[in-house]
Order: sequence, then structure tokens, then C-alpha cells
Amino acid sequence: MRKLVKTGLTHAVLLSGLLATQFALAQDKTVKDGVFTAAQVSSGQVVYDNSCKTCHNMRFYRDTLKSWDKQPLVFLWETIMGTMPADNPGSLALADYTNVIAYILSENGFPAGEETLDPDNGMADISIIAP
Ligand code: HEC
Repeated sequence: MRKLVKTGLTHAVLLSGLLATQFALAQDKTVKDGVFTAAQVSSGQVVYDNSCKTCHNMRFYRDTLKSWDKQPLVFLWETIMGTMPADNPGSLALADYTNVIAYILSENGFPAGEETLDPDNGMADISIIAP
């Protein structure tokens, strides 16, 4: 009887170990993995031209991405939404903040793909990597 209980426990430990591994794999997604669509890039370019270009050039965003190396993309999204445009923070639509990030990533050499970038769906699992 005691032996049976022990075996059950071992299985539970093994199973949670497996789940932990799968979770770690889900977190390994990066901005290289086609995490935004081409349509988001074109919409983001309009946002960039209208609301961001006056104060930053692409060189600035490249340096920003470098300094955010390995951070979750959603943190950058929250930072930009909370502080930009500096003369009127939070004034853009949520989708505009998402699309402008897609545009910035695309301009820095990261590929568009099938997945729509969405702060409510998986953005916390995507890591920035330095361009
Ligand atoms: C009126 C000027 C102005 C506009 C417009 C503006 N910014 Fe900024 N932005 C700033 C200033 C000032 C800073 C902070 C100082 C710096 O790092 O140059 C900053 C910082 C940033 C940072 C760095 C954040 C960090 O913590 O690393 C990002 C990213 C950024 N802006 C993105 C954007 C985006 C995207 C837009 C368009 C939606 C935008 N900015 C529009 C002035 C502006």
C-alpha cells in the first residue's frame, strides 16, 4: 500500500517537471519568430510617420531594442503606451501602439509572419532580442 502511494507521487513530480519544461519552451519565443503580420507593419508605419518620427529616428529604436535585449516584448509595449508620444502619452489607440511596434521590429530586420501581435494574447511570452 505504502509503495503504491510513493509511485503515485513520483509520477506527479515527473509530470510537473514535464509541464515546467513546456512552459519554458513557450517562453522561448522571440521577435525573430514571425510574431506580427505584414498588415500590422503597414498600419504601424502610418502611426510612426504621424506620431513618432518627429522625435526619434530609426537609429534610436535600434538602440532601444538593443537595450531591451531578452526583455518581454509586452514590457516595451506598456512603456511606450504609458509614456509616448512624449507630448501626449497614452493618446493613441491600443492597436496603434501594437502596430507601431510591429513596424519598428520590421524596420530592424525582424520578419512578419502569420501571427497577429496582440498584447492580450501571448505578447508576454515573446522576448525582444537585440537587432
Ligand atoms: C514630442 C517628442 C516625442 C514623440 C512624438 C515621441 N517620443 Fe518617444 N521619447 C521622447 C523622449 C523625450 C524620450 C525619453 C528620452 C530619450 O530616451 O530620448 C522618449 C523615449 C522613447 C522610448 C524609449 C523608452 C525606454 O524606456 O527605453 C521609446 C521606445 C519611444 N520613445 C517610442 C516612441 C514611439 C513608438 C512614439 C510614437 C508613438 C514616440 N516615442 C513618440 C520623445 C518623443
